[in-house]
This record gives sequence, structure tokens and C-alpha cells, in this order.
Amino acid sequence: MVITETLLTQFQENPLNWFLSAFLVYTIYSYLTPPPFSFPVYKHPETIVFRDYTPKELIEYDGRTLDTKIYLGVCGKVYDVSKGRNFYGPDGMYGNFAGRDASRGLAKNSFDLEVLTPIDQSLDTLEDLTEEEINNLNEWHGLFASKYGYVGNLVNNPT
Ligand code: HEM
Repeated sequence: MVITETLLTQFQENPLNWFLSAFLVYTIYSYLTPPPFSFPVYKHPETIVFRDYTPKELIEYDGRTLDTKIYLGVCGKVYDVSKGRNFYGPDGMYGNFAGRDASRGLAKNSFDLEVLTPIDQSLDTLEDLTEEEINNLNEWHGLFASKYGYVGNLVNNPT
């Protein structure tokens, strides 16, 4: 009782105390309750290091598991075709090209795995392609270059 009376007297004597009390209550309230809004946190976009890939390294990017990227080689360049997982994933129509140098298959419009150079052999020089096949390949290459990220170059396995 005595404390309450003393407080009331002090508040009446100096109205600033009302303001200070309100401020104190507001500060405690803000600490105890979650903020009404929060600033969005922006994640840095994923970074991909541009580098060389040998056929044996490229095969690691055949997208066999969901958390791995899918890369495809064409005309000596490597493209990240992960966003086309429907095409190049394990169940995709063009899954045979995932993690491989797809150049010869694209040039010849062939899905056959035998058309692609085995990964332990030297890179396909494509020297025997006909003019029509080269044109075909260049058209496919144009599609990859316009649609997918260029992430590296194809190089031979070390000898
Ligand atoms: C049976 C005949 C074929 C059918 C019905 C067919 C169908 C399709 C369809 C519907 C698309 C998607 C087009 C789009 O909306 O972007 C596509 C894309 C594609 N096709 Fe075929 N296709 C056939 C043959 C081939 C052959 C023989 C090859 C080469 C070996 C090939 C390679 C591709 C590639 C590389 C893409 C681009 C996928 C991408 O955008 O990443 N297709 N095809």
C-alpha cells in the first residue's frame, strides 16, 4: 500500500514518469513478442566454377541422383543442363547424353549409347561427320548455348 501511494505521488509530481513508464513497458513488450515483420534474407546465388572436364570427370554429372547436377558435352564445351532434368535425368528421353560428350549422337540424331565415345578413350574428333551431320550438330549446339549455362570445356583424360 505504502509503495503504491509513494509511486502515485511521484507520478503526480512529475508527469514525465508516465512517459518513462510507458516507454519501459513498450521496451519489455518488444523484447518478449516477435517483430511484426522481418527483412527478407537473400541467399547468394549458387556459384559454379568454370573449369575443364575430362570424359571421366564429366560422367560424375550424369544426374543419377537428385542432388547432383547434370552436365552434357557438345562441340568441346560443357553445359549445365540440370534445369532440363526431364530430358536428361535417368528416366528422361535423352538421359543417354547426361554426363557424356553428346556431339556424335546429336549430329547423327541417334540415342544409341554405342554412338558415343567410351569415356576412357580420347575425345571424339568428329572429323568423319558429313556436312549435313555437322549442320545438325551446330543447330543442337546453338540450342544448348542459348538455353543452358556454359560451365567448362571438354579435355582429354590425362595419359
Ligand atoms: C522420335 C522422335 C522425337 C520426338 C518425338 C522428339 C520430341 C521432342 C520434344 C517434344 C522436345 C521438347 C521440345 C521443347 O519443347 O523444347 C524435344 C527436345 C529435344 N530433342 Fe527430341 N524428339 C525426337 C527425336 C530426337 C532425336 C533423334 C534427338 C537426338 C538424338 C533428339 C534430341 C532432342 C534434344 C537435345 C532436345 C532438347 C532438349 C532441351 O531443350 O534441352 N530428339 N524432342
